Amino acid sequence: MSTITTISIAFLLSFVILVGKRVFYNATITHQPTPLAVPRLFCPTTLLNFNGADGKPVYIAVCGHVFDVTPCKHFYGSGGPYENFAGRDASRGLALQSFDKEVLTQDLKGPLDNLADINATQLANLESWEEYFSGKYTVVGWLVAEDH
Ligand code: HEM
Repeated sequence: MSTITTISIAFLLSFVILVGKRVFYNATITHQPTPLAVPRLFCPTTLLNFNGADGKPVYIAVCGHVFDVTPCKHFYGSGGPYENFAGRDASRGLALQSFDKEVLTQDLKGPLDNLADINATQLANLESWEEYFSGKYTVVGWLVAEDH
């Protein structure tokens, strides 16, 4: 191999390494870590703000967990089939398979619904919904009573 060929190959290799490093370096420093969702406490009145109105996220509470259901705004946002649950504790509605307004907590400043009166079938319903939501959505916090 002639000297000129060797020098050319060495030059080409240095160039490739330099460009490669720059690409790798840029890729490394421009990568922004995904922000962590820090779980927080919601009371029924604060949860109500997350009903999807005005482009805000949609959260619903199931068994004390607050889930971010924004990815399925077509279900829970305004005009969706499950909009009644947006920004609310959906536990009783899911347990009873009901959309009635009466199954939603009426007094948002009172104690949480402890579901003490639901039967075994309703409880099983609720448990399977809880499992479904846990597998699909991010938990963003916990539901607590106003005067916790
Ligand atoms: C007329 C009866 C009903 C029909 C035909 C129906 C239909 C559906 C359909 C097609 C889906 C979407 C499934 C998917 O694409 O993953 C769905 C999801 C769902 N349904 Fe119903 N549904 C009915 C009643 C109910 C009732 C009574 C409840 C509770 C009160 C309920 C709560 C839900 C929930 C929470 C989801 C999950 C949405 C999600 O993935 O976040 N549905 N339903």
